[in-house]
Amino acid sequence: MSLPSPVSTAVVDGIARITIDNPPVNALSQAVREGLLKAISQVNEDVSVRAAVLTCAGRTFVSGADIKEFGRPPQPPFLPEVIAAVEGARIPIVAALHGTALGGGLELALACHGRVAAASTRLGLPEVSLGILPGAGGTVRLPRLVPVERAVDMITGGKPVNADTALEIGLVDVIAEEDPAREAEILASALATRGKPEPLIKRQVPRRPDAGFWEKTEADLRRKARGQQSPIEALAAIREGLELPPNEALARERERFLRLQGSFEAAALRHVFFAERNTAASIRSLDAQPVDLAHVGVVGGGTMGAGIATALLLGASSVTLIERDISATEAARKRISETLAASAQRGAIAPSAIEPMLAHLTTTTDYAALGTCSLIIEAVFEDLAVKAEVFNRLEEVVPPSTVLATNTSYLDVDEIAAGIRHPERVVGLHFFSPAHVMKLLEIVRGKASGPVALTTGLALAKRLKKIPVVAGVCDGFIGNRIMSAYRRDCEFMLEEGALPQGIDAAMRQFGFAMGIFEVQDLSGLDIAWAMRKRRAATRPPEERYSRISDRLCEVGRLGRKTGAGFYDYSSGKPVPSALVEQVILEESAARGFERRSFTPDEIMARILKVMRAEGGAILAEGIAESAADIDVVMITGYGFPRHKGGPMFSI
Ligand code: 3HC
Ligand code: NAI
Repeated sequence: MSLPSPVSTAVVDGIARITIDNPPVNALSQAVREGLLKAISQVNEDVSVRAAVLTCAGRTFVSGADIKEFGRPPQPPFLPEVIAAVEGARIPIVAALHGTALGGGLELALACHGRVAAASTRLGLPEVSLGILPGAGGTVRLPRLVPVERAVDMITGGKPVNADTALEIGLVDVIAEEDPAREAEILASALATRGKPEPLIKRQVPRRPDAGFWEKTEADLRRKARGQQSPIEALAAIREGLELPPNEALARERERFLRLQGSFEAAALRHVFFAERNTAASIRSLDAQPVDLAHVGVVGGGTMGAGIATALLLGASSVTLIERDISATEAARKRISETLAASAQRGAIAPSAIEPMLAHLTTTTDYAALGTCSLIIEAVFEDLAVKAEVFNRLEEVVPPSTVLATNTSYLDVDEIAAGIRHPERVVGLHFFSPAHVMKLLEIVRGKASGPVALTTGLALAKRLKKIPVVAGVCDGFIGNRIMSAYRRDCEFMLEEGALPQGIDAAMRQFGFAMGIFEVQDLSGLDIAWAMRKRRAATRPPEERYSRISDRLCEVGRLGRKTGAGFYDYSSGKPVPSALVEQVILEESAARGFERRSFTPDEIMARILKVMRAEGGAILAEGIAESAADIDVVMITGYGFPRHKGGPMFSI
């Protein structure tokens, strides 16, 4: 027995309503494509139909081609055929948009003869974020509807626009006050009376971009894309769309789409798309209610505490923040309000949102103020004794149901939990700096961490729009452990002949936003220094150990915050330092290395080998739940280029 079609058609008073119902996001699966073709031929044949509306059931309009079908042999009918049928229909068809009209979904809407959107709709062509480009006419049709520069931004950047912007640039005709399908019927009926508008594909391009536009845009894209190919190909397709006869341009676009679909880049980005949605599997399956997150406590208001408090305020929680003394509470409040102001300046929040958020922040030295918080996140100094004392004080002021989390980078969560009466309420919540921006949240599962503590971590990630990854207890959990391993190897390369600027350049060329030495300077060399000092007593004497970082810390070069680290920052920018080179040469000589040069490929091959080996060990020890989780950690927390799929990914 065949399954019912996900596409249905109902005709009332000469207006056909074609509805796609393919949860969760109405992706254009083979069955939807087939159903759409049938629906179009049905309305073409039914002479009582004057106009049609294309709408979707559920939470969203079509959010794209079915990504699950990518990587498998394509099944007819193909999307361009469906889109041509919609565009060439006998009657006017109006798309009624809500939720997200993305990728093939927006291309379908572009084939319609009018577009009505609910006010909350987001519209975009995000294909480049999957390593491909619009493959069903998007690069040819969009620039015929909206200003070319806007089309280029949308297609090469992949970021959706909201309904207001869509109206402003001409992407939609109407923003619906209420039911978009109902208002689409009104527009469709009007179009039937006025006559069907000319399909986009036949429209003249209103204005060609200015001289030099393509060259400049391509140069900008190459700089931003860090080796990713699809935005460059997308730009070329848009140009062809404007310069070639439309049918030829459509054929060229499709050819590029199919070629890119089979590329490593596309496979890598698809892998990351699904990996990010499948993290924290072990916690998702737990049957426990998270605690209420309306009021959260934070202990420590330094870099991380203030950042976490900011993230919580942005996530609509009230925050009570504890510091050691009045001047520290004031400093923390200042840090938070400055961060919110910077967010407003970036356009991330409305300036008017700042005051109401700050009204939900209490800063105090009095632990008793935490009594009503159901979750408390500790972000004090990275020192076990200091943290243990904080946890003991917390125990005195909150009931046993309060979840207690530590943001430690390297310390043993089990040791922190061991000293308190209800260790099942303790969990690691490892944020990344800046905490209100970085997407990753490592949920560190201690030996005693109970289901409520764990599901609370997951609920917090959801509330703060972060990606949760579960890590077991070990030195550095997943991310810092891998980073420590390759950082160590990078320092070995310094001893053997490389320089920080050479290694950083190789990492940038590979696609990292920054190299490891620039990153360390940014986050400060002292936390890792403290960790190495702690381990010194137990480090096997035969283990290779580079002293370069220690020597820089010993002379006060702790990174950007002290004006110098692996680089000098007197000009504000990282500049290679003669002193650092001197230290490196001395350490090379002390270890008896004859210095040699390293090519960028050699440097990256070594870094990747170390990442994979450490990732393998982390998996074998059960610290990470999957290799894909490790990829997600390195991409979302450590700047590993997304289009390379992560250190564990291969095809
Ligand atoms: N194909 C198949 N499955 C999809 C999908 C798609 N295009 N988009 C989302 N899903 C699945 C997710 O995997 C997830 O499945 P799960 O519940 O089994 O884990 C489920 O739908 C819900 O997705 P999210 O958890 O991401 O839900 P959100 O509400 O947070 O986000 C969304 C919804 C904004 C639609 C987001 O899922 C998204 O951005 N999807 C990708 C959109 C996209 O890239 N479209 C372009 C596809 S390429 C294309 O169209 C080519 C064309 O030019 C020919
Ligand atoms: P920081 O030194 O900037 O801030 C620590 C704050 O804690 C200080 O403001 C201090 O006054 C306060 N504090 C110390 N003892 C306290 C107590 N008993 N009660 C109340 N407040 C107290 O340090 P940072 O960088 O914010 O680190 C905090 C924690 O977060 C550490 O465990 C660190 O390992 C971890 N972490 C740091 C990251 C980073 O990039 N800096 C990233 C992820 C985790």
